[in-house]
Amino acid sequence: MYLLIPAAGMGKRMGSDRNKLLLTLHGKPLLAWTLLAAMESRAIIWIGIMAQPEDFEEIREIITPINALKPVQIIQGGETRQKSVYNGLQALPEGAETVLIHDGARCLATPELFDRCAAALATCQGFIAAIPVKDTIKIVDSKGWIEDTPDRSRLWAAQTPQGFQVKLLKECHEQGRKLAWEVTDDAALLEKCGFPVKIVVGEETNLKITTPGDLAIAEYILSQRL
Ligand code: CTP
Ligand code: MG
Repeated sequence: MYLLIPAAGMGKRMGSDRNKLLLTLHGKPLLAWTLLAAMESRAIIWIGIMAQPEDFEEIREIITPINALKPVQIIQGGETRQKSVYNGLQALPEGAETVLIHDGARCLATPELFDRCAAALATCQGFIAAIPVKDTIKIVDSKGWIEDTPDRSRLWAAQTPQGFQVKLLKECHEQGRKLAWEVTDDAALLEKCGFPVKIVVGEETNLKITTPGDLAIAEYILSQRL
């Protein structure tokens, strides 16, 4: 199984002056934790990391001590996550049939989750890791008035890994480019093209590190792991 890691963001909501994936978390760069989990997953055989050129050198330094087990390639990222994944798909080695996409910012995903996700691709063309939402979710108009309250029992919070047949995901990305769709995850491209996407139960601790508060929670979670 091939893995693409989008890591080319700015981390604006973190309020830091650099890519949040290079910030130190529990003694290592945040991205190193993501990579270590991917290295431990038995299903993953190749890793591509999409990054901005100004971060290439630092990312190379992160990879060097931990890339003995499987090949890791750095790929130029794009202006949006969608474009970064597009670039990653073009850089997949010849013959790659299935791919996992996993946000660099989800550095607490476990190797077991990667393996469970990889196994799901034997039964479907596309899946996402997700967990049931705990909060009641409101749909709100631009003036701050509630329009609707969707039935919570059917709401799931999307995570990564998300996994797909490479050929199908490439086709959906091409369609998205042609029709100028802007989406925040890859499953949304399959949905808009009318293809089914399955849910794999994710992990409650699989946070996307977005704000300084998330960084503090992640620090605590890592400190509790053996
Ligand atoms: N990402 C990417 N290319 C972009 C934007 C985002 O590869 N042009 C990656 C991020 O590095 C991250 C993942 O997509 O691993 C999820 O994005 P997000 O959490 O939104 O990270 P940022 O875009 O960096 O943060 P922010 O939106 O706060 O600026
Ligand atoms: Mg972003």
